[in-house]
Parts: sequence; C-alpha cells; structure tokens
Amino acid sequence: SGSGLPLMVQRTLAKQVTLMDCVGKGRYGEVWRGSWYADSVAVKIFFSRDEASWRRETEIYSTVLLRHENILAYVGSDCTSRGSCTQLWLITHFHPLGSLYEHLNRSTLTRHQMMALCLSAANGLLHLHTEIHGTQGKPGIAHRDIKTKNILVKVNGECCIADLGLAVTRAHLLQAPVDPRQGTKRYMSPEALDQSMNAACFETFLRCDIYAFALVLWEVCRRVRPAREYRVPYYELAPADPSFDDMRKIVCVDAARPALTNDTQPTMAGMENLMRECWHQNSSVRLPALRIKKTLLKIAANDNS
Ligand code: ADE
Repeated sequence: SGSGLPLMVQRTLAKQVTLMDCVGKGRYGEVWRGSWYADSVAVKIFFSRDEASWRRETEIYSTVLLRHENILAYVGSDCTSRGSCTQLWLITHFHPLGSLYEHLNRSTLTRHQMMALCLSAANGLLHLHTEIHGTQGKPGIAHRDIKTKNILVKVNGECCIADLGLAVTRAHLLQAPVDPRQGTKRYMSPEALDQSMNAACFETFLRCDIYAFALVLWEVCRRVRPAREYRVPYYELAPADPSFDDMRKIVCVDAARPALTNDTQPTMAGMENLMRECWHQNSSVRLPALRIKKTLLKIAANDNS
C-alpha cells in the first residue's frame, strides 16, 4: 500500500477474533459483534468497493492518537483474503446499546439523560475538531458524516463518535480536492447542497459538522419526556432517501429547518437557541464546537431537575 499503513502487524488480528452476531447492515457493509480474547469487539466489514473508507478510517485512527472517551476506541484494522475475495475489517470497542439512532427509537429521556448524551457528543466532536500541538498531538479532523446513526451510546449514558470513513484533515485538502457532497444528504449543510462552499478551506468542513450536529441535538431533544415520537430531521418535508435536489430545495431555497416547540422550560429553551445558532444559513456565524460545549455546560448547570 502507498499509504504507509502498518498492515503487516495487523494481519493476525482477524484470526484472533470470533464473529458472534451481525448487529448492523447498511450501504457501507456490516457490523458484527465479535469476541477478542475476553473482550467484546465490534467488527465493521466493508464492501470491497468501499476500500477508500476503510483506508481513510484506518489511517485516521492509526496515524493519530485518537484516544478519547467520546470517540469510538480503535482496536485495529485487518485486510485478509478469503478465497478470491478481499475482506476489509475495522475492529473497535463494542457498545451493546448500539447507535444513538437506535437508542432514541427505543427510549424516551429525562432532561438529565438528554444533557449527558448531548454534552458527551459535543465533547467528542470538540476533540475531533481540535488541533493539538506537541508529541501527543493531533491534527484538527472534520468528520463529514455526523448523524445519529454514526454516534454510539455507551452503557454509562454518554456517547462516542464513530465512522471516520469520510473524515479529513487540513493535510488531506492539500493533497487532493475533497468533494463536499459526500456524507448523508439529509444532514448536508446548505453550503454543501448549493455548492457555494470553499472546499479548499478546512474550516468550511468543520462548519458543516456543526450544522449536522444541530440536527442531532434536535433529534435527541424531541425524545425528552413528555416525548414526541422519534423522527429523522426533515421527516415532514423530505422523502425517505432524499435526492440532492430534494434537500437543496428544502434547506437552501426554502431555508426550512426542523420545527422547534418554543418550550418555556429554561433547559429546553436553551437547547432550541443552541440549535438555531448551529444550523444557521450563514455558516460563519455557527458556533464552534468549544462554544457548543460551554453553552451546554451552562445549560446543564442551570437545570434544577
Ligand atoms: N454499531 C456500529 N458500531 C457499533 C459498535 N462499535 N458497537 C455496537 N454497535 C455498533
């Protein structure tokens, strides 16, 4: 491989993992629960046509020390041949509650549980976005596919951010142009949909993550008791599997956003103000991740429940 990945040392990993049951299937491939010695692990098996995502995710995890309680912990990658077929595996910690999307479909939340989910997810996003200098440093990373299906729920009630298959650093943008219209269309920012964004500028991609994160906040807040039924963002405006043009009409032309309740309860009112600031049409006034975290901490500190 030309990417310098330490594949040689990883060849044995797949042999040590026993696949137990399939916990997810999608356009990307499959996720299995596996066992690795005494540990449960998650094994994401990529379709070989999606080798680029496996390579990028492996590269991001292994070139950067991405150890953070709110980012899915990496165990290793493996590339094995089964007969004529190449299998691409990404092995991470396993979280039995599954994705935030599944969790919200299953459960309603107290305000306290909502705050723990939102704060921890914001903390994970902040760590990704932040460039850290020094020997234990990391570049800033834009995720580019933030959505409730790509965030996992840990048994302690906190989230961790997963799926780095589209993630980019400033260095990636210098190496080759990056197509801004890649992630999930439903979560795509107005500037990505109308192709008005400067795709050579790294900060532009961070702002797209913030827009998508605001939609995640909206999905979580709907499930606070007295909860409404789980809905995807733009459920009342966009069809299932919307096209670029469907989403461009809704998000750019009509400038629609998910409906807010104008709740007078201070915590929920604070959350709705935060969503407005983060899904703003003008990307340059959206809050950076650090400001989101500080705002959430302030909202949580004032909650009397
Ligand atoms: N679904 C996708 N990734 C997962 C993981 N790491 N643990 C549990 N469920 C998952």
